[in-house]
Amino acid sequence: MKPCRIHFILEGMVVEAPSGISLEEVATFSHADITFGCKSGSCGTCRVSIPNQHTQCIPPSAEEASFIKQLGGSPNERLACQVKILGDINVEYLGL
Ligand code: FES
Repeated sequence: MKPCRIHFILEGMVVEAPSGISLEEVATFSHADITFGCKSGSCGTCRVSIPNQHTQCIPPSAEEASFIKQLGGSPNERLACQVKILGDINVEYLGL
């Protein structure tokens, strides 16, 4: 299977990883500048923008979507600790 290409916009870095991997795992092994707090979808420190996430990531749970909405986030936003990658994505770290 073709690897996914994850482009960390702020770092200008592209990393390849297998489909289905978590964004948290990719960010950690590639030393991307994303801060993780709770790692369970409840603190918001890992908030990112992924413009094409609707086709390239497993959809957010109802809880994640609701939390992003509470934070005033756009539909492109996700919690990096909750994202599973299915294809090529561009990631921009936003934080809280
Ligand atoms: S690390 Fe807390 S929501 Fe992702």
